[in-house]
Amino acid sequence: MTQQAFVKYDGVARTLHWLIALAILIELRLGLTSDAWKANPWAPGVHKSIGLTILVLTLVRIGWRLTHTPPALPADMPSWQVLLAKGTHWLFYVLLVAVPLSGWIFSSAGPYPLNWFGLFDIPKLAVEKGSMLAEAAHEGHEIMGQFFIPLLLLHVGAALYHHFRLKDGVLRRML
Ligand code: HEM
Ligand code: HEM
Repeated sequence: MTQQAFVKYDGVARTLHWLIALAILIELRLGLTSDAWKANPWAPGVHKSIGLTILVLTLVRIGWRLTHTPPALPADMPSWQVLLAKGTHWLFYVLLVAVPLSGWIFSSAGPYPLNWFGLFDIPKLAVEKGSMLAEAAHEGHEIMGQFFIPLLLLHVGAALYHHFRLKDGVLRRML
């Protein structure tokens, strides 16, 4: 275990990580039960509001990440694990932008108004109902949304493996 492994992500990075993680779990729960939205009329509005909040928080997070160096990984971590971790993180960032953006795109073509928890309107993007863009965004939203699940299992599995098996302080960097 290296001394470096104990240096933490800063408070902003940790707060954004856990806020977004919690929000994603709520989004998956709401999204994957969208068949029952008719019986829960509040659910689509909450799904869209939380989703658009994730988009904004993610853009802030990416900006922060690009301007702040993260703590180094343990020096003895095999290079394939470093690569896998970086690939997972990179894919997470892609999904964290692409999933809510695709939701915003295809919902803009729908009949319902967009607002943030009923407090203020969110502008609809210029997307026509039935257009190729609307259809692709809808399809993409469902596929990419579900892709969070295996990625999250890999990510959490790796975090727990580092914590309980390797005991190398990697998880503590994010706590
Ligand atoms: C990171 C944020 C988001 C995640 C993880 C997410 C995830 C999901 C998932 C997993 C589904 C179910 C897909 C399926 O049927 O298999 C779904 C459905 C849906 N999402 Fe999202 N979503 C997010 C953001 C948004 C946003 C921002 C909007 C719109 C502004 C939106 C609008 C919708 C709608 C309307 C459905 C229902 C689609 C249908 O049943 O045809 N989502 N979402
Ligand atoms: C959907 C939920 C989650 C998402 C989207 C997510 C996303 C991310 C991303 C993008 C990073 C990279 C940070 C950077 O830019 O350097 C990261 C790091 C990390 N996450 Fe998560 N995470 C989630 C849930 C969790 C959970 C539940 C745990 C713990 C069990 C966890 C533990 C960690 C740890 C320990 C790191 C630092 C790893 C490293 O430095 O290589 N994450 N996460």
